[in-house]
Amino acid sequence: MFQKEQQLIEEKIKAFCSANDIALAELKWQPIPFSGEWGFATSFFQTAANEAKLGKGNKLPAPQKAQEIAEQVKAQIGSVDGISHVEAVKGYLNVYFKTSDYARRVVDEVLNSGVDFGRGVKKSERVMVEYAQPNTHHSFHIGHARNTILGEALARLVEFAGFETIRASYPGDLGLGVITVMWIYDKLYKGQEPEGVHERGQWLAKLYVEATALLEKKDNETPEEIAQREAYDAERREMYRKWDAGDEYVRNLWRVTREWSLEELRDVLHMLDVKMDVWFYESEVDEPSKVIVDELIKKDIATDERPNGGAVIVKIDEKLGLTKEKYRTNVILRRDGTTLYLTKDLALAKVKFEKYHVDRSIYVVDVRQSLHLQQAFAILKLWGFPQAEKCHHLGYGFVSLPEGAMSARRGRVVLFKDVADEAVKRVLLVESEKSADIPAEEREKIAYQIGMGALIYSMLSVDNNKDIVFDINEALSFDGRTGPYIQNAYVRANSILKKSKVEGRKLDLRPSTFNYELTKHEIELIEKISHFPNAVQQAAAEYRPLIMAAYAYDLANAFHSFYHAVNVLQTEDESVKNARLRLIAASKQTIANALRLLDIQAPDVM
Ligand code: ARG
Repeated sequence: MFQKEQQLIEEKIKAFCSANDIALAELKWQPIPFSGEWGFATSFFQTAANEAKLGKGNKLPAPQKAQEIAEQVKAQIGSVDGISHVEAVKGYLNVYFKTSDYARRVVDEVLNSGVDFGRGVKKSERVMVEYAQPNTHHSFHIGHARNTILGEALARLVEFAGFETIRASYPGDLGLGVITVMWIYDKLYKGQEPEGVHERGQWLAKLYVEATALLEKKDNETPEEIAQREAYDAERREMYRKWDAGDEYVRNLWRVTREWSLEELRDVLHMLDVKMDVWFYESEVDEPSKVIVDELIKKDIATDERPNGGAVIVKIDEKLGLTKEKYRTNVILRRDGTTLYLTKDLALAKVKFEKYHVDRSIYVVDVRQSLHLQQAFAILKLWGFPQAEKCHHLGYGFVSLPEGAMSARRGRVVLFKDVADEAVKRVLLVESEKSADIPAEEREKIAYQIGMGALIYSMLSVDNNKDIVFDINEALSFDGRTGPYIQNAYVRANSILKKSKVEGRKLDLRPSTFNYELTKHEIELIEKISHFPNAVQQAAAEYRPLIMAAYAYDLANAFHSFYHAVNVLQTEDESVKNARLRLIAASKQTIANALRLLDIQAPDVM
């Protein structure tokens, strides 16, 4: 936000150093927290070390030398517009702004940029974020919701940070689990089809539980029971064989039931305001992955042990020249000619790199698949894809229930749709008492925004590596560090602006003058706002939505404090009042931008 000043000062430092033959190190600037004035600082320790290495100068110890350079530089700088003064302290150069200028520039920049405030400059790399990729023939549960929310927030962050961004999904639509559901459907429920997108998707999950119970070994089985179970399993295997062989009937059954799952998935994505750009399916990379196996054998990356009755394997550690076990040896083609999850991931990555020209490839996947993905990335590297270095697994912890792990087999899952409905219901209950004056339709929309805001924030405010024990009361809580607490800051800002009617008048036409004694609350708020662009860059660079989640809370917190401490509408001095209203408008905009990056909507009232 203050690049112009920074650049000017940098130029002066560089000119001074080159004129005096000083081996200047790269200048790294950091903000100085408010201490009567705002500023930014850089140190000269590295430069002092450079000088010492070259055996130059007066052999002063590094700290003294750094201080000496800082003082010399300071003497050269002279006066710069908008800068109040410059200090050389302990090897640092501290540059301070005029407070009123700083405040005005922060606020003006937000109001001039609007929804684009904080957007990073366009970067040359293209990023693909793959997320929301559950297996079909199951239902979308709260663990999948964590994945989808993390992925969407990350996609929004990298996009806003300046990367061209592609959102991709990769549902697992084949395998034994899928066939199991098809088998029982065909056997016991053929022709049936519940009404409603979610009902249909959820029904498949129930069929899976039922089928598992029929196919599973039990204690003390009678010979008849064993025979029955084995007969079922033979039917299932036969169906799998037919699917593989491309049998018309089985393939059709597969397509129809798969579509039920995908319809449900698309509706969930719609609820979460996620717009996928690309859909990959495991079934679509199955055939291409067989071709890849041959290529990897030819390139001597894979070892073909089929002539000796073995499989096709990749000795990853050996090929990478590692002596300690890290990635191990992996099968990429079974003896019977079928591919594995890993093989398909290699084929998928190739498509991502070659067809979509992805430079950075991010996988939002359960942390338990970490080894699998590291193995895939290692093989991609052996294969010679430079992008392998920029493949990143954003893992996330397990979502379990207070009563234990979720289990699709046992039907012990908390469905996302149920939680979302419950969230809205609970908010509506409160809202209908509190805001009976709002029309019902509007109220429902607001309840949705708040309910989802609570749910989404509860997923993003936990470090992605930590497990979550999902408690619906906690997730839908409105107190403390929650989505609604942040939304409420937005609503309060909105309501003051509405009351002042200042929004009707074009704010931008009236420059704000902050040349009065700012209160502590105003200072903190302005400082928080000014950090937003950095928070965006940091969250995107580290692939950590949590950074933005924490930032949004801090910003809301600063706003609430200001709101309680300063009565803006009753401020007597018109120019002070105007400056404060502009600060509120800037706060509102920044909160909205932060919420948007978290995939949380900002309601106008609540
Ligand atoms: N469908 C998989 C699952 O539900 C996740 C896919 C992860 N992505 C990948 N490229 N392997 O476990």
